[in-house]
Amino acid sequence: MSLHVVSHPIAQDILLTLRDKRTHPDTFRAMARRISLLLAAEATRDLPTRAATVETPLASASGRAIDTDIVVVPVLRAGLGMLEAVLDVVPTARVGHIGMQRDESTAIASQYYAKFPARLDRCVVYMIDPMLATGGSAVAGIDLLKQQGAHDIRLLCIVAAPEGVRTVEHAHPDVRIYTPVVDERLNDVKFIVPGLGDFGDRLFGTE
Ligand code: PRP
Ligand code: URA
Repeated sequence: MSLHVVSHPIAQDILLTLRDKRTHPDTFRAMARRISLLLAAEATRDLPTRAATVETPLASASGRAIDTDIVVVPVLRAGLGMLEAVLDVVPTARVGHIGMQRDESTAIASQYYAKFPARLDRCVVYMIDPMLATGGSAVAGIDLLKQQGAHDIRLLCIVAAPEGVRTVEHAHPDVRIYTPVVDERLNDVKFIVPGLGDFGDRLFGTE
């Protein structure tokens, strides 16, 4: 199963505010950050750990430390709305960027920027993009990450459409998708319904 629906009640509550057309960018940004924390917590649940010991003021305490390199890759620009939260969860992660833009009339995504840290083959890679609509941006982004050697890739999104989930699952069955919700459908201009509109515009107050 590559699809993980994070049906946490707090995530469901936040989604209502994100979807509400009356929500202003300041609140939208805060909610995008909060829901991303929950997604990141879930998507890091199975990270490898190693035994470690520290000295408390009283005695030795044994525990587990994260035992892998992590890279977070926001898909510009909407993915930036999730980045700080994911870095709160994995603060030692390095950060790559992919710039991807959907053509407004065809909804086909094209890449305009990419920059990655070295040795993605040794890392768990979290690609973060809040909207999974047709899946075109996600598949192109994952293609790029795999060309750079990444093979443990997880996709974090905030609203997914069934079409996008199917497209990613078909092209990249090894990639795990974490989302709090899979919506009903895409409309004729490939926006998610009911969705929340254009995430980047709502995050940054552009139209
Ligand atoms: C949005 C969103 C995804 C993409 C999803 O970005 O952030 O990247 O659309 O659509 P898809 O699954 O059909 O490819 P957009 O191209 O609007 O760019 P932006 O983030 O700069 O607003
Ligand atoms: N991108 C968005 O921001 N929203 C959608 O519904 C689809 C793509």
